[in-house]
Amino acid sequence: MIECEGLTKTYTLREKPSFFSRGKERRITALRETSFSIAAGEIVGLLGPNGAGKTTLLKMLSTLLLPDSGRALVEGVDVVQSPSLVRRKIGLVLPSERSLYWKLTAQENLQLFGGLYDLPTRKVRERSRILLDLVGLADFAHVQVEKFSTGMRKRLMLARATLHEPRLLILDEPTSGLDIQGKREAWTLLKNLATHQQVTLLLATHDMEEAETVPDSLLVIHQGKICAHGSPADIKALSSHKGWLLIDLPRAFAENDIELPDGARLHNVESTNVGSRVYISQVTPFTDMPRLLRLFPDAVRVERQDVSLADSFLTITGDRFANDDAEERDV
Ligand SMILES: Nc1ncnc2c1ncn2[C@@H]1O[C@H](COP(=O)(O)OP(=O)(O)O)[C@@H](O)[C@H]1O
Ligand SMILES: [Mg+2]
Repeated sequence: MIECEGLTKTYTLREKPSFFSRGKERRITALRETSFSIAAGEIVGLLGPNGAGKTTLLKMLSTLLLPDSGRALVEGVDVVQSPSLVRRKIGLVLPSERSLYWKLTAQENLQLFGGLYDLPTRKVRERSRILLDLVGLADFAHVQVEKFSTGMRKRLMLARATLHEPRLLILDEPTSGLDIQGKREAWTLLKNLATHQQVTLLLATHDMEEAETVPDSLLVIHQGKICAHGSPADIKALSSHKGWLLIDLPRAFAENDIELPDGARLHNVESTNVGSRVYISQVTPFTDMPRLLRLFPDAVRVERQDVSLADSFLTITGDRFANDDAEERDV
């Protein structure tokens, strides 16, 4: 469905000139020599922190941005050579809700965009009915979009992007700004959409839960490079940790107090209001748990945690998955 080879994009930023300086030029390589391919019918997550290069990659695939070098094909069609043909094959959902007309109703918005795609009126009417139903807005077809909640607007944007029966749906942070309830609804909806409309989904996200819930496979992106590709379970298996044990103690804990069995490693200790919490990482799957637990006879609470995608991200990149809380930023 998508083939990318050596895609590269560098932005040039010119600092604002001031009395003291002429304004320096800074070059930011947002994407470096990115190559990957995606099969039809999959839901693929593009997972990476803010600034990783997700939007840049999606914009190049959707013909909104030209690559400096490299090649990208959508169903065999080159995005640089035949942009209008590519645009007919894809539906695009950007994070901003400003792409809807707020004074128009849901139905009118779809009619307007159907017109832009040169779809016959009958076809638009038929698709609108199916899609508004699918995204749970059938009862709101004739309500102005300005009266919609954020979640409803995002759902309408999904319907709009799917109107012309695209083969590929490209979504940039489709649930940013939604509360957890809204996110869960959107996740179910995305999966339904992939099944019922037989569309391939490529969605960028920095939300770990989203990355674990929705996609069949993940492309992990960091500093403009794809550094892993596989199912969420495959990606988690790349973590150098195999699991976590959190042990709450009613006292302070000194590192030299105990000798851990093979395969277990002390990760860190936090002080809590009752004493301390000890984080032990399992570095091999076969740790002698009973022996480990006997070392903490006064534990008030023990919790086993599976490895997370964030753990694997740290292993793969050596970098913490930082989200400087910039969820709402449209870059
Ligand atoms: N129009 C632009 N001009 C200059 N730099 C940009 C522009 N768009 C993005 N960047 C920079 O390119 C890098 C990748 O950005 P982006 O593709 O938006 O990442 P993401 O979507 O993963 O947050 C970041 O360092 C960002 O600051
Ligand atoms: Mg982005």
